[in-house]
Amino acid sequence: MIVTVRPEGMARINTPQLAEAYIEEQIAALREQIGDKKVLLAHSGGVDSSVVAALLIKAVGQQLVCVHVNHGLLRKGEPEQVIEVFRNQMNANLIYVDAVDRFLDKLAGVSDPEQKRHIIGEEFIDVFAEEARKQEGIEFLAQGTIWPDILESEAGIKAHHNAGGLPADIAERFELVEPVRILFKDEVRMVGRALGLPSNMVDRQPFPGPGLGVRCPGAITRDRLEAVRESDAILREEFAKNGLEGKVWQYFTVVPDFKSTGVKNGKRTFDWPCIIRAINTTDVMEVTVEHLSNELIDHLVQRIITEVPGINRVLFDYTPKPPATVEYE
Ligand code: XMP
Repeated sequence: MIVTVRPEGMARINTPQLAEAYIEEQIAALREQIGDKKVLLAHSGGVDSSVVAALLIKAVGQQLVCVHVNHGLLRKGEPEQVIEVFRNQMNANLIYVDAVDRFLDKLAGVSDPEQKRHIIGEEFIDVFAEEARKQEGIEFLAQGTIWPDILESEAGIKAHHNAGGLPADIAERFELVEPVRILFKDEVRMVGRALGLPSNMVDRQPFPGPGLGVRCPGAITRDRLEAVRESDAILREEFAKNGLEGKVWQYFTVVPDFKSTGVKNGKRTFDWPCIIRAINTTDVMEVTVEHLSNELIDHLVQRIITEVPGINRVLFDYTPKPPATVEYE
């Protein structure tokens, strides 16, 4: 049986040996639970779902069906990496759903942050449910629930959806499989490393469910979304080169919906600014700002204004939380 509560006094999984032991134990438990049946997993490419996928591939191989939905709000290179690592390297049974147009069409003209979040969440469930209905003979649904989700849900802070908020006709068909349910985040990362997942997948910074959608404030347009994606890729590349990856808690760019005058090659421009935010925290209730070196600031400004279409100004957000939240909406 899979343990559903964290056993009292359970040792923190903080060595590769303990991670190996956990993996062996879970593989045996998953095989016993699943038998020769099929399992479905919504694979976002995040740490938790990636570790769940890797564990299930080891335990039941082709009986796992992964569904990766590209909602168009992922970071540069993310869908490609999920396909490369899971389908090409681990030989997973991975269904890739290109739902970019579907999401962006639904979001067109919607500027209210809560409505945007709602549309993204609902649409995700719809797309996943459609894929689930196409699959025959699936009895299990895997989820990357982790121990803090359970604690927050018990404390009434965050709703932990059973079966990911799926409609009842589908949710009822499935039994849940949650092989990292008793782990804290650092333990999930340790297990992911022991499973051989790439470090930029296991150690990645937190990324909100609504993705780049909340970093493109107001009504999302494809060109401004591209400016967010490209500037974010440059920021991540420069942080990695400068030894800041894995050290700074979270860093990203935001492209707000206003334009200002600039000049390029002797001609007037009227383009967006790009805002850079890099923060540190332990609990995300309070955050402090990472102070960047002048050299890095200059370099980021140069790269972003020359490489990202539509940007003519780079701003740095040095505001702690409170009063500012981490994300802009
Ligand atoms: P805020 O903006 O509330 O962010 O200070 C705190 C942390 O939560 C992340 N965040 C989200 N994560 N869905 C998520 O899964 C969301 O809607 C969401 N909004 C914020 C944010 O990236 C930061 O790490």
